Amino acid sequence: MIKQENCKIVSNRQIAESIFELVLCGDITNEMSDPGQFVHVKVADGFDPLLRRPISIAAIDKDSGTFTIIYRKQGRGTSMLADKRAGDEVDILGPLGNGFPVDEATVGNTAVLVGGGVGVPPMFELAKQLAHKGVSVISIIGFQSASNVFYEKQLAKYGEVYVATADGSYGKKGYVTDILSEIYADIVFACGPTPMLRAIESGVYAPKTYLSLEERMGCGIGACFACVCHTKEDPNGFSYKKVCSDGPVFAAGEVVI
Ligand code: FES
Repeated sequence: MIKQENCKIVSNRQIAESIFELVLCGDITNEMSDPGQFVHVKVADGFDPLLRRPISIAAIDKDSGTFTIIYRKQGRGTSMLADKRAGDEVDILGPLGNGFPVDEATVGNTAVLVGGGVGVPPMFELAKQLAHKGVSVISIIGFQSASNVFYEKQLAKYGEVYVATADGSYGKKGYVTDILSEIYADIVFACGPTPMLRAIESGVYAPKTYLSLEERMGCGIGACFACVCHTKEDPNGFSYKKVCSDGPVFAAGEVVI
């Protein structure tokens, strides 16, 4: 069920250049289940709904009643969020969106999780849930540069991790798809910038591929139409899907990206 709640900050720390990890406590944690879902975060005080930002859920811990989100500090709103401290409250609406279909991977399968930049966070909860099911997990994460790298160690708890940087300052120089093309996958789950998702879709690296289009989101609650995608069956017609409410996760080939 979708809830709105003022959640207390447990911690809010910088983990890479302009990247912050926010741990929040609240009953809303009990409503969260699927990796790849997101919350709508009120990043500043006031009544303007645009003060909310969609941010994906990186980790769910029902035992402690906490969840983790990771965001990039890049404007006034997220700068205000970065200034908040433990004990402060943040208005959260969620969980929203469909999430990754964990059941599409079965025991003994190799699932390759591909994350680019702020598309990495949802891969952490996904890796955890897949590994607990008995699926072999390999993560490939891509960043611009060494200073942007985060969650390599956290993902390593659940399987092998490969890092690519565009400038070659850490891990392998190049794109995540350079690594993906060398690895066997029964299923690929990906989240990141649109060009990365397009490359993964057109490369057909596994029998099943699921893509999270969260970069395509605006308001996050079905009100702005900024996130609309045409379906592949009807690329120029009236058939469309909203990333925020029908997605953000789609099977490869479902929508035009
Ligand atoms: Fe506004 Fe989907 S993000 S309608």
